[in-house]
Amino acid sequence: MSPATPPKSIQWVGGVDGHVLMIDQTRLPTELAMIQCRDTETMWEAIKHLRVRGAPAIGIAAAMGTVLGVRDYGGSDRHGFLSYLDQICDYLGTSRPTGVNLFWALDRMRQHARSTETDDIGALKLALLDEAKRIRDEDAAMCRAIGKYGEPLIRPDCGVLTHCNAGGLATAEYGTALAPLYTAHELGRPFCVYVGETRPLLQGSRLTAWELQQAGIEVTVLCDSMAGALMKQGRVNLVITGADRIAANGDVANKIGTYSLAVLARAHGIPFYVASPSSSFDPSISDGSGIPIEERDPDEVRCGFGRLTTPPDVACYCPAFDVTPADLIRGIVTERGLIQPVNGEIIAEMLGD
Ligand code: MRU
Repeated sequence: MSPATPPKSIQWVGGVDGHVLMIDQTRLPTELAMIQCRDTETMWEAIKHLRVRGAPAIGIAAAMGTVLGVRDYGGSDRHGFLSYLDQICDYLGTSRPTGVNLFWALDRMRQHARSTETDDIGALKLALLDEAKRIRDEDAAMCRAIGKYGEPLIRPDCGVLTHCNAGGLATAEYGTALAPLYTAHELGRPFCVYVGETRPLLQGSRLTAWELQQAGIEVTVLCDSMAGALMKQGRVNLVITGADRIAANGDVANKIGTYSLAVLARAHGIPFYVASPSSSFDPSISDGSGIPIEERDPDEVRCGFGRLTTPPDVACYCPAFDVTPADLIRGIVTERGLIQPVNGEIIAEMLGD
């Protein structure tokens, strides 16, 4: 794979009666396996079990999942179609609670159907497919723009620490936190990347290390607990992560462990940045305390990847995300430019519409 073409995580194949083709991210890095989704239930399962993951990719998957679902509507009544669509959106919305892109994309699909003025059910289904593809293509464009605005942060020979996976796999392509890295790499700038494993599901070591290596970018994996020591040694000049949901005041929900990195970065005087498309901002939530945090099966901690690593019945805590307060974040790179300082006024000014 060439440096400029990170993997395409998700795409629609064929016409309205086609299918969704996605990388099964649970199989990486040992196997690059594709899955075909032909119904909403398979898509719900794929989102729930992180076969497709990363907030923007989940939004695209959900949009495409609604198209898979409405194909089963056999009636000829527009109102019946719209309420059938609502049921599918409600169902897909139960898959994961934290990343706002899921709900943003589902709302966009509902609204698009309602604003498409036709009683022809076939035309409505086609309009929804076009909208789902548009959501995918817009995400790809937003990621490229984030790369352009974020690239100056990557100074020659710097060390960059990232967390989880906010790359091509987590988006339509190219990524959010990884986009400035891809762009700087394309410009020939030398730098190195550190990524924490991202326990318990190892998105950092399994996915980010895999896709950066594919792109020819120097990457070193560390256990999550090693980040402080690495910073103390002066090897990290910048921390950059993605976001699952950003509240109106700039508080950021992202993969569990992000908050710890932001605190460590502050303690070591290292700038901590977030990179995110506007689709991950949620102006309806005033601050991070209102963001719903997904709690996952404690077995993901207790016996991750099939091996029991605790006493069998010990209690385990398994939140999938945490919230980093805005005042720990130096800036947020969006497709519209850099939000800095991070506060409600600047966010509203930049993304108000
Ligand atoms: O549980 P995951 O793997 O879906 O969590 C993903 C993250 O936390 C990413 O950092 C975030 O979605 C941004 S992806 C561009």
